[in-house]
Amino acid sequence: MIDRYADEATRQNYLGKFNDMPRHQLDSKEISDLEMIACGAMSPLQGFMNSADYKSVVNDMHLSNGIAWSLPITLSASKEEADSVEEGRDIALVTDDGQFLAVLHLEEKFGYDKKEEAVKVFRTDDEAHPGVQYVYKQGEFLLGGKITMINRPKHDDFADYRKEPKETRALFEEKGWETVVAFQTRNPIHRAHEYLQKCALEMVDGLLIHPLVGDTKSDDISAEVRMKSYHVILKNYYPADRVSLTVFPAAMRYAGPREAIFHALVRKNYGCTHFIVGRDHAGVGSYYGTYDAQHIFREFTREELEITPLYFEHAFYCKACGNMASTKTCPHDKSNHVFLSGTKVREMLIRGEIPPKEFTRPEVAQVLIEGMK
Ligand code: ADX
Repeated sequence: MIDRYADEATRQNYLGKFNDMPRHQLDSKEISDLEMIACGAMSPLQGFMNSADYKSVVNDMHLSNGIAWSLPITLSASKEEADSVEEGRDIALVTDDGQFLAVLHLEEKFGYDKKEEAVKVFRTDDEAHPGVQYVYKQGEFLLGGKITMINRPKHDDFADYRKEPKETRALFEEKGWETVVAFQTRNPIHRAHEYLQKCALEMVDGLLIHPLVGDTKSDDISAEVRMKSYHVILKNYYPADRVSLTVFPAAMRYAGPREAIFHALVRKNYGCTHFIVGRDHAGVGSYYGTYDAQHIFREFTREELEITPLYFEHAFYCKACGNMASTKTCPHDKSNHVFLSGTKVREMLIRGEIPPKEFTRPEVAQVLIEGMK
């Protein structure tokens, strides 16, 4: 696994040089990416992509050396900034308040085609798509090269739940879990999510609930409120010795199928053996087909992903069955199914109404209502 933390001598050396180095300010998504590169969550990446890897990933979902990788991990810069830095030099990567985070060993600066990236990665060039919007706002150049982390980004939130791949791997080993299923989420855990997780947990040793806490679009529920909701549902409905909750520092791209592959590959690095992919994984609006994020796994061999996807059909509570089910297991028509759209649920919670217990656990609804005040 990749480890890009500076040793103490290197760190002191760069701290001494910091004032004379060109600086580049990172936004919060780039800081998330940097953190994940440094700790090995993004192994085998050792830095931000150069043009060969960038093009190969955009066109073919593999790095230039043939390893599977589905999303560009890049660092953008304006033309002026790109003009002012020299390939082969070190650049200090800093936060918006000037804190020195890492060194970028600039290997290459290069132009890129944003529209091509949008169409190939997001399957749309619609500027209303939040991931496409982000790419369109980026600088016109990309800076590629390995990084060396000097100071870890400071986080005041979820300190006890920020576990790096080597820590989650150690945790699974300590618990004696040989098979671990990861659950990616940017939402509170509703009954459908719980059903997927528990079906999976019937087949493996442990469950890693791994909520994404990096940037999400503004109408997604905040990570802070979600974390509170995870605590109450875990306390009341999950076996403590078979479940682990740690946070995933990534930002959402809303790239649907390609992001599902990325989510799986990264969870392999955290030591998981299985990965849940349900309906419209990492989707937004109606840009992707309901099961596109499952179909894309066919484009890779099992050997190259080294993590087993577990697919789930759309899940719901069926009143006629009297339990949670999916189209795969329930013979009844839709009138028996408890289904609420995200918008409908949000409206109910804002009004202080508890959604049906078949849709969400009342304890979770209570936390969400409080969080919306
Ligand atoms: S995501 O952007 O992180 O994928 P979300 O938190 O809603 O969004 O979903 C987490 C996981 O649960 C994804 O794999 C998604 O496909 C799956 N999922 C969410 N709701 C359902 C459902 N009703 N039926 C089946 N799978 C679902």
